[in-house]
Amino acid sequence: MSDKYGIDIGTCNVRLSYVNTGEILTEKNVITIKDRKLVLGYGDDAYEMFEKAPENIEVIFPVVDGVISDIDKMQLILEHLYKKLNYGKNVRGSDFLIAVPTDTTEVEKRAFHELVANSKIKPRSISVVEKSVADSVYCGVDIESPRGNIIVNIGADTTDISVVSLGGIVLCNTIKVAGNKINEAIINAVKQAEAKLIGMKSAEQLKFNLVDLGLRPVHKEMKLFGRVLATGLPVRTTIGSELINPVVAETIEPIIDAVKRTLEKTPPELAADIVDNGMYLLGGSANMKNIDSLFNRETGLKVNLMPDPINSTIKGVTKIMSSSKYDSVRYFPQEKVYN
Ligand SMILES: Nc1ncnc2c1ncn2[C@@H]1O[C@H](COP(=O)(O)OP(=O)(O)OP(=O)(O)O)[C@@H](O)[C@H]1O
Ligand SMILES: [Mg+2]
Repeated sequence: MSDKYGIDIGTCNVRLSYVNTGEILTEKNVITIKDRKLVLGYGDDAYEMFEKAPENIEVIFPVVDGVISDIDKMQLILEHLYKKLNYGKNVRGSDFLIAVPTDTTEVEKRAFHELVANSKIKPRSISVVEKSVADSVYCGVDIESPRGNIIVNIGADTTDISVVSLGGIVLCNTIKVAGNKINEAIINAVKQAEAKLIGMKSAEQLKFNLVDLGLRPVHKEMKLFGRVLATGLPVRTTIGSELINPVVAETIEPIIDAVKRTLEKTPPELAADIVDNGMYLLGGSANMKNIDSLFNRETGLKVNLMPDPINSTIKGVTKIMSSSKYDSVRYFPQEKVYN
């Protein structure tokens, strides 16, 4: 069998899989550059420097809102991680399947293809699949069935809401509210309530440790460092879940509204299936405690929270590449006219 690889490039994380063994490499989608040319680090190593680097070191996230904004840097990260996945070997002539954002332009989708095609990876073939279709395969949705399913992937910059049927997309809606907006809202809440400034990484830790979107969250608190707004001096501070939970719930309201709007637009036959099957909740931000309960309370739908939601897309991509049964959901960009 030839060597097969899957790729899912997100705003926060980039994931590569070696389909032949099922091995997955997930790293932060970041590169650090010193004095505008020297690469200091890739992936998780580079992320270590985020919020700590001096001015001559740039910490670059080459994907913004789910689309590639810096193709050269993205290529460097991808080549590095590909080599890492192959334990330092530069394996050429392999087959690739790339997940592309569902609700974007043809040009933006093509950028993902070109990224790999023009890289040192020197692929033999490149096919692509829409992220929501890969997610639906991960969820076990039958791609030959005309039944409708709604897939909600809450990532870092974007939330993707898609209705899929017969392995294709019937409706999709991407909104720019996800994990990063939640972190920003937490920073603002701490600024207002405590007059202290905290960083993105601290805000994310508060989110990981304190958030509970259930009806009766128990009190939790976390100690961390911040800076007093007035003086700039560092202080240790304690933040409670009572401050964080309402802010997070408010920030994700537009996501719930977008799900409702998508349901309203769904053709009635497919909507009936969705009521029967429930929605599928995926993406890293689906890890927030009791998010399924919140979505259920707000939409009335049953919510299927999938295991390991942060790796849903790459696991779907890997599954599609593993079996010819899924050939119909992937395509070779030269042959396909995008929407
Ligand atoms: N345990 C957790 N609790 C809350 N949020 C989490 C948890 N684990 C990860 N996240 C959030 O998930 C987000 C990353 O998710 P994911 O990897 O699916 O995004 P992405 O694919 O890189 O981005 P996008 O899909 O927007 O391009 C981050 O915002 C992160 O804070
Ligand atoms: Mg994603």
